[in-house]
Formats: sequence, structure tokens, C-alpha cells
Amino acid sequence: MAEDQILGIDVGASGIKGAIVNIKTGELVTERFRIPTPVPSKPKAVAKSISEVVNHFNWKGLIGVGFPSVIQNGTAKTAANIDKKWIGTNVEKLLSEATGCPVYVRNDADVAGIAELQFGAGKGKKGTVILITIGSGLGSAVFTEGVLLPNSELGHLKFKGGIAEHYAADSIRKKEDLSWETWGKRFNEYLQHLELLFSPDLILLGGGSSKKFDKYKDLLKVNFPVIPAKLLNHAGIIGAASLAALNKKKTLTS
Ligand code: BGC
Repeated sequence: MAEDQILGIDVGASGIKGAIVNIKTGELVTERFRIPTPVPSKPKAVAKSISEVVNHFNWKGLIGVGFPSVIQNGTAKTAANIDKKWIGTNVEKLLSEATGCPVYVRNDADVAGIAELQFGAGKGKKGTVILITIGSGLGSAVFTEGVLLPNSELGHLKFKGGIAEHYAADSIRKKEDLSWETWGKRFNEYLQHLELLFSPDLILLGGGSSKKFDKYKDLLKVNFPVIPAKLLNHAGIIGAASLAALNKKKTLTS
């Protein structure tokens, strides 16, 4: 196993995806391997699926995991798009025990943001850069001068009488069968709200809908550039691996 290779795993509401990543270049060294997230997505079942991913790669080294919750000191504090049983679970401990490997876990959007700033569309960008992932929920990673403010959860801002991700996530577009135009206008309102709160210099869009950017980009009327993330659905995996490497060196924010 090469020194600069780490297994990155991205846990999503519908799929668990993994690949071995070269953390120097940000490239995948292997094909991406995906298995469906178990239903219900309780800790034991998900840990078993993650072990399957690890075994698929016959992996014995360091693992980085992006997880769809607020993660503090390895423990999940919220569970919006995953089983509520995760709240209070030490995810790092559970997954280290299940896989027999050292595991570092952070919020999925935070690690995707780390990957985009290191290797993707946010590389070398100064000022306030926000990555929004559009999928089952709305995930966020907020950086200022390249430093991450972890667990920002901007998808859970109070918005339009509810929370933002219940108004403008991709799952809502599908569930309510919204046209791209209707959904795009909603998403524009959300971005305008972020503009009011953060005055971003740049917003990057990740997750499934970032691939459909052409369908709604003309509806976005904000005073900062909005660009799709470059690493697309690999960002979570790459960022998770990168996070594990940074964590090992204990310099996450440098
Ligand atoms: C969760 C976030 C997560 C996002 C994307 C939200 O519902 O609260 O922690 O980053 O979904 O998966």
C-alpha cells in the first residue's frame, strides 16, 4: 500500500461510495465502488456496508469518511437524511471497530469542500467560498481564506416557513415534480438569502444537480460567481481521504 494512498468513503442517503485516492494529486487510484445505503440506515447495518466497501478493496490502512451529519469529535450530533439512531453515536469508534482500520469521520459537505478547495474548482480561491451540495438534502462547507468553518449546516437555515433543504434540495424537485425552472427559481432565492447573510466571493455547487447546471444557471441572479464543482460525485470520496491524511498530521485547518 503506497504511502500517499488512502481509502475515501462517502456515505449518502442512497449510496455508500468508496475508492482509493492518491492524496497528493487528488486522483482516484481505483474505480469507484458503490453499494446502496441500507434501509433503514441504522448504525449497525451501515457499518456492515462500510466494511463491505473496505473488504472490496482489501484495505488495511487509514480510512476517511464523509458522513451526512454534524460530526463533533467523531460523534454524530444530527441525522436529517439518515436514521435517527445515529444521533450520539461515535461514528469514528464504531467504524474503526467494524473495519479494524483507523477511521476519521467528518461532515460529507465539509469533506467535499476540502477536496474542491485542494484539487477542484475552488483551488487558489480567496475570500469567502461556500460549497453547497444539492442532493437528498442541502449540504454546506464554508471557507474563509481557505480555512473551513466545520458543520455550517446552511441547508438547515430557517427559510420560507420551514428549512431551506425542504424547499430547494434536489429530492424536493423530484418529490414535488418541479420543473427545472420552478426549482431553479427556488434555488436562486436560497442563494440570494446566502448572499444577504455571508456576502460570498464564490459559491461552488456539488452533488447530483451540479451536473445539470445548464438547466438552471440563467435563473441565478446573485452578485457573485456560481460555478459547478469540478470533482462532481468524486469530491466526497477525495475529500474524505484528504481529511484523513490532514488529520493524521493534525493540521486540518492549515
Ligand atoms: C445534513 C448535512 C449534510 C447534508 C448533505 C443535510 O440534511 O444535515 O449534515 O451535509 O444533508 O448530505
